[in-house]
Amino acid sequence: MKAIVLHHYGPPNILTVREIPRPEPVGDEVLVKVQATAINDWDWAYVRGKPYIYRLIFGLLRPRVSVLGAEVAGTVEATGPQAKKFRRGDRVYGDISEAGFGGFAEYVSVREDALTHMPRSMTFEQAAALPHAALLAYQGLVGAGKIQRGDRVLINGAGGGVGTIGLQIAKQYDCEVTGVDRESKLDALRSLGFDQVIDYKQVDFTRNREGYDLILDAKSSRSIFRYPGALKPGGRYVSVGGSVPRLLELLFLGPVIGKMTGKRLKILALKPNQGLEEIHRLFESTSIKLLIDGPFGLEDVPAALERFGRSDHIGKIVIVTNASGEGRQ
Ligand SMILES: NC(=O)c1ccc[n+]([C@@H]2O[C@H](COP(=O)([O-])OP(=O)(O)OC[C@H]3O[C@@H](n4cnc5c(N)ncnc54)[C@H](OP(=O)(O)O)[C@@H]3O)[C@@H](O)[C@H]2O)c1
Repeated sequence: MKAIVLHHYGPPNILTVREIPRPEPVGDEVLVKVQATAINDWDWAYVRGKPYIYRLIFGLLRPRVSVLGAEVAGTVEATGPQAKKFRRGDRVYGDISEAGFGGFAEYVSVREDALTHMPRSMTFEQAAALPHAALLAYQGLVGAGKIQRGDRVLINGAGGGVGTIGLQIAKQYDCEVTGVDRESKLDALRSLGFDQVIDYKQVDFTRNREGYDLILDAKSSRSIFRYPGALKPGGRYVSVGGSVPRLLELLFLGPVIGKMTGKRLKILALKPNQGLEEIHRLFESTSIKLLIDGPFGLEDVPAALERFGRSDHIGKIVIVTNASGEGRQ
């Protein structure tokens, strides 16, 4: 089968398209014919082995994983002897980042508990774009952020997968939502439904004193001391990602500063695939609109990763693996 293979850390152009043996499902694994996959931050960090501290997880000298790709949507081709959840032909999807990656290939063999049946109305492209970003947004806003009806919400880093889906989750709670991102993305964000938009290069949203009940941050880059002032009394700040020093600050100082200010400052550790049923419900009842960048072909993965790294995308970059276009249905 065709796969995009990683041998050592470096820029995305070190990835090569190779013919490798098709995996066999063992134990509780299922073999999935990948129809669509998506680019996300894990892939971008893994290819380069940066930030360096991540090499404690990825492999100190060489990457542990040779085929990346954390989100997959496809059809079950075969099942391992202990697999019970799926049958051949089932349409499945999921975040497989804790099950060995492998989405940048024509087939992947993966633990069945990392996969879920796709709702009937969902296309493979949509399914590939959903699990990681949608659950970061859902677990951030609803779980850690305890979103309330009518809250004033701000999403920092609004133009990526988390922000564009997070907006639509917040709108389910009749919230007024402000999106912060680069100027060139603001028109698209307005059209998607953000009530206000802010260009982060021009305006520092933390200067808006007591402006928000809830801040969801996909790109924490400020000192932790800046956030409490932007929150209303009892407000919540939840980071889903950002620079490593800022995240460490949040982890260690967040609880103390929260106690001192009466506000909550949290960092979210994603629980892959937890809450997908709720995302299904939202998708089917309100037609979550997914902003898909692409789709690109499997051989375009290195270029798509470069695109992600330059942050030229809006929403999720999707890769359609099956050349016949079957991946769209
Ligand atoms: N918590 C967890 O367990 C977990 C797991 C996996 C990933 N993550 C994290 O979750 C986040 C994923 O978000 P995503 O997929 O939506 O990311 P994304 O697609 O990269 O989008 C992020 C957006 O933020 C913008 N941005 C960059 N710097 C900014 C700044 N200083 N202020 C405001 N906006 C800024 C980017 O635009 P420009 O760069 O063009 O300006 C881009 O539009 C990442 O931070 C990732 O590391 C967390």
